[in-house]
Amino acid sequence: MDWHMQKLKHVVDSGDFNRAAVDVVFQEALKMEKIRPGSPESRVLDGYIMSTLFYEPSTRTRLSFESAMSRLGGTVLSTESAGEYSSAAKGETLEDTVRTVEGYADCIVIRHFQEGSAKRAAAVASVPILNAGDGPGQHPTQALLDLYTIQREIGRLENIKVGMVGDLANGRTVRSLCMCLSMYPGVEVTFVAPDVVRMRDDVKDYLTQRGVKWTEVSDLREVAGHVDVLYQTRIQRERFTDMDSYNAARGKYIIDKELMKILQPHAVVMHPLPRVDEITTDVDADPRAAYFRQARNGLYVRMALLKLCLADKMGPDDLKK
Ligand code: CP
Repeated sequence: MDWHMQKLKHVVDSGDFNRAAVDVVFQEALKMEKIRPGSPESRVLDGYIMSTLFYEPSTRTRLSFESAMSRLGGTVLSTESAGEYSSAAKGETLEDTVRTVEGYADCIVIRHFQEGSAKRAAAVASVPILNAGDGPGQHPTQALLDLYTIQREIGRLENIKVGMVGDLANGRTVRSLCMCLSMYPGVEVTFVAPDVVRMRDDVKDYLTQRGVKWTEVSDLREVAGHVDVLYQTRIQRERFTDMDSYNAARGKYIIDKELMKILQPHAVVMHPLPRVDEITTDVDADPRAAYFRQARNGLYVRMALLKLCLADKMGPDDLKK
């Protein structure tokens, strides 16, 4: 059968994945780490085209997806500032854009400012939609690379203690990561956030329903000493309508060299990046600062996802069987 006729799948929601699916992605990602330019493995997506539609700024997600596609022999149609420089600026709907671009590309990577936008795109698309972040909603490929990083750094995903810090109300990475972590027994999550950006109830309820122990505390030092992973996030200025609330939130929780003295020797600091001032730059030289290794892992995980979605025609639903 022509591959265009096959049922294609999407990566839009972290809840779509189960442990078996994550294991398959990780097995592929490990192989991706070893691919060398010019090898047959580096041509596995030869002839495929990926389109990126980014309505919000990005460095890591867009460039790692584009690098991933290039490193597997595919090509890229790239639109950054899509709200300004695509026909969205003339009033075109997301649905119409997707139905047009699917005629030019074999998969579409979308970052959009509205929560639920990736699901809307997937509802009309005949090619795989990969959600690169939908407003304050979900960032499933980031969650997968975060899990991959924890596995690589700590050596396991079960029985780990994770402290999540910063803008937990608007942080789509922490929302998606919570959903993924809930698949593993013995995970404990502690939230540390300024009052105006505490973790939302939908994620807390999700964790409770899945038997994940979670708590909220206000003292970062209390958490730092007993976690395996300290996951810091930026206060997302662009999501605030009220600058007084933003100013109340920013600068409250900072990871610096003093805090690193409390962190356990085996523990790691992660951050989806970009950072502003919530991790001081003198922490970067500490071997427990894993955030640039985390960003690098995004390349391997996205290479794996592209191969699974395009060459192997697999999506989360296939992997569940
Ligand atoms: N982590 C992340 O989504 O980074 P970018 O905004 O640079 O893509």
